Amino acid sequence: MKQREKIIPMAYGKILEIGIGSGLNLPYYDKEKVREVVGLDPSIEIWEKNIINPDDLPFNFQFVKASAEDIPLDNNKFDCIVVTYSICTIPVLPMAFEEFRRVLKPNGELIFCEHGKAPEKSIERWQNLINPVWKRLGGGCNLNRDIPALININGFTIDHLDTMYIPGWKPASFNYWGSAKVN
Ligand SMILES: C[S@@+](CC[C@H](N)C(=O)[O-])C[C@H]1O[C@@H](n2cnc3c(N)ncnc32)[C@H](O)[C@@H]1O
Repeated sequence: MKQREKIIPMAYGKILEIGIGSGLNLPYYDKEKVREVVGLDPSIEIWEKNIINPDDLPFNFQFVKASAEDIPLDNNKFDCIVVTYSICTIPVLPMAFEEFRRVLKPNGELIFCEHGKAPEKSIERWQNLINPVWKRLGGGCNLNRDIPALININGFTIDHLDTMYIPGWKPASFNYWGSAKVN
């Protein structure tokens, strides 16, 4: 099963997807549970590579060109924030998480799937060594972010977490996925 299939069907109600990229998660939303998806990304160029016509989606959809650190949307608006493979890239995470808490309703959920810091010291050493070059070549992506720790120190409590290596090059393939609630 693909990582996206494991996580995206958990989302419900009004959803804000952070760093939507080219919309690869859109086919996996459960149309019975979703009222609206707002897809946010600072890059219109990446979004324009999407292969799904938003008019064909079985729920309301809107694209917003903005960064996670400065979300131009109202307080207490969303039931869920979905973020996949973007916490690795967002430059100022404390600001982004502050914005997530602001736009989520009380009891709202953060649903995430990310690659990050590997559990073995030997792989982590490689991640730390390669990271400066990787980040420069990979559009700001970091190999070595400790995803659960970052979620927990930024005002959320993880209530469900799974981890594993997905197939691929080990320094870039240790995945963390699950859900968290605002503290
Ligand atoms: C590796 S892509 C992942 C795209 C998509 N979430 C997916 O799973 O296929 C990282 C995305 O994060 C976006 N991004 C970069 N900086 C960001 C920021 N400050 N706020 C929100 N998204 C950002 C990039 O434009 C890019 O679309």
